[in-house]
Amino acid sequence: MHQSARDVKRAGKSIAFVPTMGFLHEGHLSLIREARRLADIVVVSMFVNPTQFGPGEDFEAYPRDPARDSELAENEDTDILFIPEKQDLYPPGYETYIIQENLPGHLCGISRPGHFTGVMTIVAKLFNIIKPHYAVFGEKDFQQLAVIRKMVSDLNFDVKIIGSPTVRETDGLAMSSRNKYLSSGQRSSALTLYRALCDAKEMTAKGETRADALIDAAVQTISAAPETSIDYVKICDPDTLEDVAVIDRPVLMGLAVKVGRTRLIDNTILQPGSRG
Ligand code: PAJ
Repeated sequence: MHQSARDVKRAGKSIAFVPTMGFLHEGHLSLIREARRLADIVVVSMFVNPTQFGPGEDFEAYPRDPARDSELAENEDTDILFIPEKQDLYPPGYETYIIQENLPGHLCGISRPGHFTGVMTIVAKLFNIIKPHYAVFGEKDFQQLAVIRKMVSDLNFDVKIIGSPTVRETDGLAMSSRNKYLSSGQRSSALTLYRALCDAKEMTAKGETRADALIDAAVQTISAAPETSIDYVKICDPDTLEDVAVIDRPVLMGLAVKVGRTRLIDNTILQPGSRG
């Protein structure tokens, strides 16, 4: 991969990179299409990164289908598919990790300690191997995108980070490799995440400015559905991820909910409206 990236650059071509953990769906494919628009050469990586999974999380069970993934990526005109092995990226004796002080202390970082260190470490390694001009990330993982932007700025990576909108099923459920775990009953319960976000958007557009009122409504909607257990429902500043009490500017509403044993996340931007 190092050599291929060097050859591409020597030929004066630009590289857009899409990191993934495989089990590709339309959300991933939309990032690949965005990468295709940005640069001459599109590199997609597929690697289920062990360092971003905590003890008891689904690293072993994480869905894998490399043959189908390769076909999907090739259909989108991917130039280079990079599928490293665990022992290549984390050989015995590996001991270097990236720490960020503030952003990982919010939202998902609270219930997944160490998760963003694992994400930053693998993304930094992949950036060093591939040396892309652009890297495309989904807004579905809003905190991940914020953490990566900050890492790139703090550590002077020479790469432009592009955020890409969340792709949803026709009924609104945000696409995720983990949706595969859901039974049909759980899938209906999972729809309440999107419904709660839509309700909050509508309430703010109609003039509601109190974050706690919006959060209470969302908690009620989600907890009324069977098999749901809320990790967090938060309204926060999209840059610092600090809680916001009054919605007087565009803010992020983010939520994480376990449906059965599957942890799902979703988010939206709330725009303050006028009271009419
Ligand atoms: P993974 O969950 O496979 O996601 C890869 C990329 O696809 C991420 O940028 C994610 O935000 C984006 N994505 C996932 N679902 C999406 C959807 N419904 N709409 C739009 N984009 C979506 O995120 C990771 O892998 C890993 O943490 C990784 C960055 C690869 C590091 O290991």
